[in-house]
Amino acid sequence: MASGGSPAAAVPEVALQFGNARPMPAVAIGTAASTPVTHEATKNAVLAAIEVGFRNLDTASMYGSERPVGEAVAEAVKRGLLDSREEVFVTSKLWCTQCHPDLVVPSLRETLEKLQMEYVDLYLIHWPVCMKPGPITFPAKKEDAVPFDFEGVWRAMEECQRLGLAKAIGVSNFTTNHLDRILAVATIPPAVNQVELNPAWQQRTLRAYCVDKGIHVMAYSPLGGQDWSGTGKGNGVLGSQVLAEIAQRRGKTIAQVSLRWIYEQGVTWIVKSYNKERLKQNLEIFDWELTEEDRLKINQIPQKKYVTAADLFSTEGEFTSVALADMDIVEE
Ligand code: A2P
Repeated sequence: MASGGSPAAAVPEVALQFGNARPMPAVAIGTAASTPVTHEATKNAVLAAIEVGFRNLDTASMYGSERPVGEAVAEAVKRGLLDSREEVFVTSKLWCTQCHPDLVVPSLRETLEKLQMEYVDLYLIHWPVCMKPGPITFPAKKEDAVPFDFEGVWRAMEECQRLGLAKAIGVSNFTTNHLDRILAVATIPPAVNQVELNPAWQQRTLRAYCVDKGIHVMAYSPLGGQDWSGTGKGNGVLGSQVLAEIAQRRGKTIAQVSLRWIYEQGVTWIVKSYNKERLKQNLEIFDWELTEEDRLKINQIPQKKYVTAADLFSTEGEFTSVALADMDIVEE
């Protein structure tokens, strides 16, 4: 645990209801970058994040960031920024090409080899989307989508926890329908659902469902997200007039208003920043509160989802063995 007086000590923690993970720090650094970044840049950003007080690190086989995240943790221990690897909460994710029952445990072992760790604190199914096994390509060919064996894959995820390779297991980008399918077969329920969530996509229905089932919600794209498709489509958070006005009145940045709002909803956010000043800024949300008036205004922000399962696939070709509707993620 964080030693008293360090910036990490100011970050509250959340106890997950399922699994054996240590309490999870309520905010995390993400390592998914929409433009290419070097191994060194990722490693340095994670080290900077640890230095300013982040103890919750998010990676995925898809991001190609597992090795630099692992190296940053090892370096942080060497430099005395951390006493040991146990001080950080590390999440990684099973990519769509790995969502086959016999590939789950080997994929996690590969992740652990890259991280140079004995276990991850949390292992997630990245999407309710299954693709033919093979190298990770982005975007994928539509013909590579195959039906998802929810029961078989979840059994293998449970095996990961039983083997101690993951302290807790969960999902990402799952709707209430997908969660119903997992809960119908689970002996270990998912501890977490990591989804797109911010003031412009508040996920009220999903959040209420997850509270009811004891599933903790983590928010990705808490600042509206990066421009993954390269289309320059607007950002409903950093471009929000409502948030800008609240930020100005409170003497905060728009990012801080959004991150504070998410934290107040009992949701753990993950934000990628490879900039030390912004990393610090993002942590400065625990010693002030939004007012009731601020919250009411935020509740009125028009809702728009940015990330969909369709974004994983090339615009060329067609789905041959699965319908996009089976995997798509629209709820509210
Ligand atoms: P940068 O790394 O240059 O800070 P994601 O939604 O995937 O977590 O990405 C967050 C995006 O917002 C990144 O492009 C990141 O860029 C940027 N960002 C992170 N923190 C802040 C902040 N406090 N203010 C403005 N932009 C931010």
